[in-house]
Amino acid sequence: MADLRVKFAGMTSLNPFWLASGPPTNTAGQVMRAFDAGWGGAVWKTIGEPIVNTSSRYGAIDFNGTKVMGFNNIELISDRPTEVNFREIYEVKKRYPQNLVIASLMVESKRETWHQMVRRAEDAGSDALELNFGCPHGMSERGMGSAVGQVPEYTEMITRWVKEVARVPVIVKLTPNVTSVAHIAKAAERGGADAVSLINTINSLMGVDLENFSPRPNVGGKSTHGGYCGPAVKPIALHLVSTVAKNSHVPISGIGGIGDWHDAAEHIVLGASTVQVCTAAMHYGFRIVEDMIDGLSQYMDDHGFGTIEDFRGRALGNVVDWGDLDLNYKIIAEIHSELCIGCQLCYVACEDGAHQSIEPYRDAQKKNANGFGVHLPRIVEEECVGCNLCALVCPVETCITMKQVDAGRSPMSWNDRMRQRAASCQPPMASGD
Ligand SMILES: Cc1cc2nc3c(=O)[nH]c(=O)nc-3n(C[C@H](O)[C@H](O)[C@H](O)COP(=O)(O)O)c2cc1C
Repeated sequence: MADLRVKFAGMTSLNPFWLASGPPTNTAGQVMRAFDAGWGGAVWKTIGEPIVNTSSRYGAIDFNGTKVMGFNNIELISDRPTEVNFREIYEVKKRYPQNLVIASLMVESKRETWHQMVRRAEDAGSDALELNFGCPHGMSERGMGSAVGQVPEYTEMITRWVKEVARVPVIVKLTPNVTSVAHIAKAAERGGADAVSLINTINSLMGVDLENFSPRPNVGGKSTHGGYCGPAVKPIALHLVSTVAKNSHVPISGIGGIGDWHDAAEHIVLGASTVQVCTAAMHYGFRIVEDMIDGLSQYMDDHGFGTIEDFRGRALGNVVDWGDLDLNYKIIAEIHSELCIGCQLCYVACEDGAHQSIEPYRDAQKKNANGFGVHLPRIVEEECVGCNLCALVCPVETCITMKQVDAGRSPMSWNDRMRQRAASCQPPMASGD
């Protein structure tokens, strides 16, 4: 039976599933209900000098009938008094000693202010601290959040200040709104961070109402850039998590676009030890963790993984530079005509948008509902470059699959070629005889 317990920066979490700092972790009542549902840990809604929020503050992108593919917010940190947040953390920890409660902190960039905040968070019983160097809106204009996390020197300096007094593990939460997340992660490490978490939200403007020209989310006809998250950001999060995993030595809590066990497992195989969830919990509620626990346990049992550590980072070695990809690996598309509905989407996509390797032809055998012959597209194998586009646009599951063909050549990457070329340009070795 899979053991979901995971060690993270010296702490033990009941499972890798934590709620990320945000609206679901705003109050003790919510966090306790979340723990009852099965979440292993919760990163409290960021605590700092209380602020005033706007109304409205959230926006979303729906796509083809799927609600909230991408989510955006212009919300700031907790608008509740600091002492209330710490009192509630104390209550939660007293009643749920096994679950991890992590205080997310953000204060002005003054050493003494950080020291005070760290001490208060620890006195409240927080198991760890997460430094919010990532909020892209509102707080950054006040010199906090991503204004810190975008500058390696600030990241290192404030992490160091926190570590001067912290007795519990310190997690630095990274912003994706940088050119090189690896540099910032390194700076956090130099400052003494025990772990990093990523990603915070991505700078975004959700859209504009073309009738009244109000950007979204609408605050009296105006709006501002906010933080993007939810399913749409998972690919960006996975890239950044794997980049940090390859370049750092501290544990990683993966965040971004996680809605089920599969998303979580992808973060884990790319190096994360724990994962955090915000948008999906806002959309579907705390209960989603039940499926996450069941699904991940089943996956681990099926693959013979006893613990998270048995498969953490397993895919990392397969994330390589482009120059190390095998240029002689060859696949081509295969259309399973018995499934084809003759919509021609693959043909149009390939003809106009790719490599003109599909031709339509009439198959008298295949009839549509009206008894007419359907135009079944056919792959021109000699022309197909194996780009995947037809399989990606085909509306029928498994109607188009990609098959590997023998290119008749042994594996060869661009870097192999360069190495061979360099070797062949070497002056002949001086011979001793
Ligand atoms: C409405 C909202 C409020 C958030 N507030 C905070 C916050 O106070 N502190 C913080 O570190 N992250 C905050 N986040 C960011 C999340 O913790 C998380 O990093 C981000 O949403 C990506 O995860 P997701 O795709 O699961 O939502 C907030 C996100 C949302 C949607």
